[in-house]
Amino acid sequence: MFTSLSSGVRQDHNKIARGYYRTDDETTERICHLLRPKNQDENMVIFDPCSGEGIALLSVKEHLGEHCTTYGIELDGERYVSSYNKLDKVLHGDSNYLVAGAAWAGLMWFNPPYGTAKNSNDKPFRLERQFWGHHASRVIPGGVLVAILPDFLFYREDAQMADFFSRYLEPGTWSVYRAAEDQFKQIVIIGYRRHKAENTVSEPDVKLRDLLLNQQDDLPELPNTAVDHPYLVPASKEPEIFRMNSVTKETVAMVLPKDKGFMREVEMVLQAEHCNHQRFSSVAPVREGHIPVLMAAGGLDGFVQDDSGHYLVRGTVRTVLHVDTKESLEAKKQAKEKARQKPEIRVDMGKNLGGYPVQSTVSDKPSQITTITTRKHETHIMAWDISNDFDLITIE
Ligand SMILES: C[S@@+](CC[C@H](N)C(=O)[O-])C[C@H]1O[C@@H](n2cnc3c(N)ncnc32)[C@H](O)[C@@H]1O
Repeated sequence: MFTSLSSGVRQDHNKIARGYYRTDDETTERICHLLRPKNQDENMVIFDPCSGEGIALLSVKEHLGEHCTTYGIELDGERYVSSYNKLDKVLHGDSNYLVAGAAWAGLMWFNPPYGTAKNSNDKPFRLERQFWGHHASRVIPGGVLVAILPDFLFYREDAQMADFFSRYLEPGTWSVYRAAEDQFKQIVIIGYRRHKAENTVSEPDVKLRDLLLNQQDDLPELPNTAVDHPYLVPASKEPEIFRMNSVTKETVAMVLPKDKGFMREVEMVLQAEHCNHQRFSSVAPVREGHIPVLMAAGGLDGFVQDDSGHYLVRGTVRTVLHVDTKESLEAKKQAKEKARQKPEIRVDMGKNLGGYPVQSTVSDKPSQITTITTRKHETHIMAWDISNDFDLITIE
């Protein structure tokens, strides 16, 4: 249940913030100087797979004009609510589990969380690459990619990302700038997605690949006025499917008051999940004490009715990160020992490996502080009272 992996103070804070280094307003404004609709009267669909509070995508919409529909996804609950109030269609959850097709967005704003995670074989991988793998295909050929990424991603962390970008963008059409705010060493890569013949492998644009693979101290600044030859965002259609197979309390709270058809959507999500996962049968009779666990594991999701009412019940497991110092962990451990529970915890010395974005509250200097990140899976059961305006009645 408990594992601990501290990668150092910078990374710990990065994880807790879930990579929230939103695009600064000046960078967004200057990127807008590079964008214009291709056809003023046709609808454009623009997409941010990690929309944060929705600030950046809303600015792009306001710049492109009324024929622009915004799609976003955000994992953090509060930021989702904020995004939901700004953008046209927003989902709450992990965008790596988005159910949607390819080739529908006329523009993708790609500023995912930055950092390293480990796969099930304990091998590190970059988050930026994970998000790229899931969402690069959403842009239509000829559509515009705006990527805001740390420069060291390409020349130090993941050289293959440079190769991906050099095969993805139409040769000779791209531009690379330094972001207006230099705190996080971000660069802005902008260009058109290539049109490519079916079943062919795109040749890399060596010029772009070389540029990204070499640390550049003299990249141009983003323009501070509208350019004469901007990138033209093409007309694009809304995706036929855009959904997440999960229901969260934030989704219910936001969507239900606006959309009474939401109940049907919830049913579809549950049905879809039931189709995906085979229902299991118990080897022994299920006792009453098993029920909370079964619910939390999603094994008993669905509509439940008894004399007291009609409820939608949903179990979920949330991953929660706590960053402790050695001292605070020791205190917790003692409290746990008292309660005769001994979670298995590994302690690593926090090392400042450098290179990750630092929030202003975090020290930039190499740290000798021991930090311990505890990753805990918490089970929650939610129940909505269907006959009573979908009130959320229980969270355990
Ligand atoms: C670097 S911020 C970018 C925000 C916004 N796109 C912008 O440009 O200002 C990344 C955002 O991704 C969110 N995020 C992290 N992991 C996510 C996931 N698995 N699915 C969706 N959003 C995620 C974070 O909560 C954070 O708000």
